[in-house]
Parts: sequence; C-alpha cells; structure tokens
Amino acid sequence: MNSDPKRDFFDGIAAKWDGWVKPDVLGAALRRGLERFNVGPNETVIDLGCGTGNLTQALLVRLSDHGRVIAVDFSPRMLDEARRKVRDPRVEWINAAAKSLPLDDASADRIICFSAWPHFSSPHDVTLEMRRALKPGGLLHVWHTESRETINAIHAGAGEAIRQDLLAPATELAQLLEGCGFEVLAAEEDDAHYLVAARKPGEKK
Ligand SMILES: C[S@@+](CC[C@H](N)C(=O)[O-])C[C@H]1O[C@@H](n2cnc3c(N)ncnc32)[C@H](O)[C@@H]1O
Repeated sequence: MNSDPKRDFFDGIAAKWDGWVKPDVLGAALRRGLERFNVGPNETVIDLGCGTGNLTQALLVRLSDHGRVIAVDFSPRMLDEARRKVRDPRVEWINAAAKSLPLDDASADRIICFSAWPHFSSPHDVTLEMRRALKPGGLLHVWHTESRETINAIHAGAGEAIRQDLLAPATELAQLLEGCGFEVLAAEEDDAHYLVAARKPGEKK
C-alpha cells in the first residue's frame, strides 16, 4: 500500500485505542444494538473498519460455530491489536481499504460499519463496494453510539488527518445509499446514537 496520512494516523493510535473506551459501557451498547439488529447465529458479517475488534468480539457472542466475522481494516496496527485480543477461528482478519474489498460478490449476509463511516474518503465507492459484497437481501448498518455532533466535534479537534471526517445527517447518508441501489430501512439520529440501516434488494437464498 502507498503512504496514506489517515492510515498512518490510525496506525499511530492503535495501541491507545482500547484505553480510550470504557469496555463495559461499549460492550453493553454493542450487545443492545446487535440484539436490535437481530443478528442471526449462522450469519457471515463484515465488520467494516473493525479497529481493535470490539464489535467483532460482541458479534462472536451471538454467532454459532457456523457463523463468521470478516473483520476489515486498512490499518495494519489496528489489526495487530485486534488479533492479539480476539483469538477465534470464526474470524477472518483482512487488511484492506473499504472501497476495495478482496471478497467475492455476495459474500456476506450483513455489513456493520461501527464508528468508522466518516473516515471513508470515497463514500460513494464504498457504498457500491458494500452492495457488491452483500448477498441479495443482505443488510447494512452504519452505526455510532454517540450523536453526530459529538463525533464531528471529536474529529474536528483530533488533528489534520481526520479533521474533515465529518458525519453527514442520517437523511443525507440515506439518500446516498438509495442512489446506489439500497432500500433504506432506518435513518435516525439523536443525542445518543446514529443509525442508517439498509437492505440490498433481492431474495435471500
Ligand atoms: C474510529 S476507529 C473505530 C474502530 C472500531 N470500529 C471501533 O469502534 O472500535 C475507525 C477505524 O476505521 C478504520 N478505517 C478508516 N478508514 C478506513 C478505510 N478507508 N478502509 C478501511 N478501514 C478504515 C481505521 O483504521 C480505524 O480502525
């Protein structure tokens, strides 16, 4: 991969990342969200922008031996942290950019992009790539457990590399997803969360 200031930024904070979250609070929020999304035991789920694997860990609790997590991140250091923390044969760790997933068409039942969406520099390309990687009838969740205002304030003050990584209103993201062929199921935000959920058209086999 060529040099990328944003990837270098995430490499640089990877070892500190888990020290900045409260594991109990985050774990409980992730459990509640996955319950609401009704993640099934045998699904193949892509954790897009997986970081140190916090969402992957929460997903594994819900999955059976037949379920699988494909955890993707462009930061090698984030993946190093994740691999050290989460040792489970149901996880495939992939070092790749979200706009170019080394996955076959229709690989996944669901994609969850947790706390990562505003960092993707080409959201249109990423949306088309997610659509390609999902099975017909597959689900997408772009999800944060803080308000858009809080997230944008954190990014604006976090240094040059991610200063402009701002989350658009949920309705705006919903329009982008619709324009790329998704059916939007939810576009909601309040002072404690942000969620845009969508479905790739077609019948699940
Ligand atoms: C704010 S962190 C969140 C990590 C994790 N989802 C969590 O909540 O703990 C955003 C993650 O997205 C990854 N990321 C940012 N842009 C990316 C891209 N274009 N492709 C793949 N991963 C990306 C970063 O390396 C980082 O690990």
